[in-house]
Order: sequence, then structure tokens, then C-alpha cells
Amino acid sequence: MKIVVLTGAGVSAESGLGTFRDKDGLWTKYDLSEVATPEGFARNPAKVHAFYNARRANAARAAPNAAHAALARLQLEHSGEVVIVTQNVDDLHERAGAKAIHMHGALKRAKCAACGARWAAPLVMSPGDPCASCEAQATRPDIVWFGEMPEHMDEILSHLQTADLFAAIGTSGQVYPAAGFVAEASEAGAATLEINLEPSDVTGLFDRRILGPASEVVPQWVEDVISGSK
Ligand code: OAD
Repeated sequence: MKIVVLTGAGVSAESGLGTFRDKDGLWTKYDLSEVATPEGFARNPAKVHAFYNARRANAARAAPNAAHAALARLQLEHSGEVVIVTQNVDDLHERAGAKAIHMHGALKRAKCAACGARWAAPLVMSPGDPCASCEAQATRPDIVWFGEMPEHMDEILSHLQTADLFAAIGTSGQVYPAAGFVAEASEAGAATLEINLEPSDVTGLFDRRILGPASEVVPQWVEDVISGSK
């Protein structure tokens, strides 16, 4: 049985990293159009760098929680393929020992807006940083902003086409294309499962749901999958 898992900010919430749309979420404190769009970056790169510098520092201080650990276990112990696609820009899946496809980029990477080169981001980035390759002062976080194309979409869509089970964990279902993955997987014949603190915006599209904090319900679900497939 091939399992495709989509994760969102809810998976990292119990590691102390803020979600976006919950009460107290990042988008209640920051204007998304100022810090998460190419236009916002063109207007005020220092402000955008400050936002991501703070998030990079928080992510570096955070540790993976039991949900990240359980997903790494699933990838290791499940008898079939397990593909983890994440909208998260932290590296907590990797630090728990999992391999994940990052569709919204990574805090740990920098990118040149002029030539497209990518390299490991320093903890603190600033608008004057030169590109490691062409030296243009056009360094930006390697994050997919609103209005930009998410990464690895061909690879992700092909995994959704061949999934037997699609599970979305800790995501509000408000941001496309990720919010459309449940429909893609379902049309291709996969069973679908939502795991979230509360029903998401697209909850009606899933065959079944498990509600609760990810650090509690994901390990239990993983245990059930692994013991059921043995
Ligand atoms: P959201 O903040 O939109 O949604 C987080 C979801 O996690 C909500 O449905 C919460 O109910 C749920 N949640 C919160 N705590 C949880 C917990 N402990 N256990 C389980 N679920 C929990 O975050 P995303 O859906 O990831 O994009 O947001 C998608 C994208 O929007 C992000 O990748 C980001 C953002 O703007 C970019 O920055 C491009």
C-alpha cells in the first residue's frame, strides 16, 4: 500500500512553531502581502528578511515532536512506499529522520532572485548579501511566496496518481494547490484521511477523519498502519 502524506503547520505546532491561520496565528500578526509575496519583498526586503530570520531562529531552536517521529517511523517500517509532502519550511521532518518533499521551499536555503542559484542560508540574511554564484545583491529566502509556483509539482502529482492512501495532517485546506490534493488522490482511487485538530475547510472531501493534537493522534495512527500491514 503506497501512502502519500501531506503535512502543514499543525504538525510543527507542538514543537512551538506558530501556525498561520489559528487564533494567534502568524497571519493575524503579520500582513501576508508584505512578508510573503514577491511584491512585498521588492517594496521592503529588510522587513521580509527580518520576518524569515525570526522564523529561521525559531525553527533552529525547535525540536521535532512525536508526530514528526511517528512519520519517520512510518517511512522506515511500513511495507509499502511512504511519500511525505510538506508545506512546512522548517526541517523538523528531516531532523526526525524522514525524507520530505518541500513544496513551499525551506528556511535553510537562500536563493538568488537574479540568477536562481541556491545555497545554504546563514542564520541571519540581509538585503545586501551577495549571491554565492553571480554576486548580485538579490538574495532572498528560498521560500515559495503567494503568486509563485510551488516546487516539485510534477513529482507530487505523479505520487498522488499512484497513492492507495492519501493522508493530510495539520493543514487548514485554505491554500492551493495543496488543498486540492485530496480531490486529485480521491479521483485517482486513493482512500483519503484527514488528521487535524479540527475539521479543515475541505474536510468534506475526505473519506474519514481523526481529530486531535498531532503529537497524540499521529503516533497512534502510524502504529495502527504498521501493525495492520504486518
Ligand atoms: P494553517 O495555519 O493554515 O493551518 C494549520 C492547521 O493545523 C489548522 O487546520 C489547525 O486546526 C491545525 N492544527 C493546529 N494545531 C494542531 C495540532 N497540534 N495538531 C494537529 N493539527 C493542528 O497552516 P497550513 O495549512 O500549513 O504558505 O498553511 C498552508 C500554507 O499557508 C503555508 O505553507 C504557508 C501559509 O501561508 C506560505 O507561506 C507560502
